[in-house]
Amino acid sequence: MKAWYFRFARPMVYAGAGIAIVGVIVASAWGQADFGRVLVDTRELFGLWALGLLVASMLLGPLTSVFPWIPLKSPLMYARRAIGVSALVFALLHVVAYLWSVLRRDWHELYTPGALWVAGLILGILASLDMLALGVTSRDSSVRKMGGRRWKRLHRTIYPLLAIVLLHALFVGADFGINRAPDVRGEADAGALVTFASLTAAWVVLFLLRRRKLHWIPRLFVAHNAKG
Ligand code: HEM
Repeated sequence: MKAWYFRFARPMVYAGAGIAIVGVIVASAWGQADFGRVLVDTRELFGLWALGLLVASMLLGPLTSVFPWIPLKSPLMYARRAIGVSALVFALLHVVAYLWSVLRRDWHELYTPGALWVAGLILGILASLDMLALGVTSRDSSVRKMGGRRWKRLHRTIYPLLAIVLLHALFVGADFGINRAPDVRGEADAGALVTFASLTAAWVVLFLLRRRKLHWIPRLFVAHNAKG
């Protein structure tokens, strides 16, 4: 029988995501009388969580391949699907919070902030559609129904997806420092840009190391070829 932490890996991720959702709402609403500000904060935090979970789900594969001795490797890999599905849930909440905030103000704000804004929203829509497709087909039964090759081709779109979400956040996100929505108060800052650029760079390095079949074993950097 599998260890409890393996069996509960996915439920624990979903429970953590549920707690985080409540946390985002409480943190945004705490002491805030203006509902518009609450919606701005929730949409930003849900967006950042969605991107964070997306990157986390992508990092796990190359990370555990390059560092095969990482503790809890198999439950982590098993939890990956739950992390991806949670990213989708956060992304949907992010979209709901944005549409809510814009529709209660003036729907023209969907395009009045300018071309960069509209391009950012179009990228956001593309990203959401792709995440939905990945989420809907994340079950084992989908692999059987679609056939391994088609399923793999679809799930490889996660690579362009990451680039699309980063561009989307860059084009519209206040915490990425280039642009900001009309209802965002205060100056944009680039904190999220630095964090996610670093995480993406780490993912690229690990991805390339895995492709070259390099595994880091303490005090030994071993080059494996496909035949082992
Ligand atoms: C229909 C789809 C989408 C729409 C309409 C949309 C809308 C927006 C808007 C308006 C902002 C600016 C928020 C602000 O700074 O106040 C934003 C930022 C952001 N979005 Fe989206 N988004 C969509 C999809 C996505 C998806 C799928 C993800 C991630 C997986 C995502 C991640 C982010 C991130 C990380 C930010 C930056 C947040 C910040 O700067 O604090 N978005 N989005």
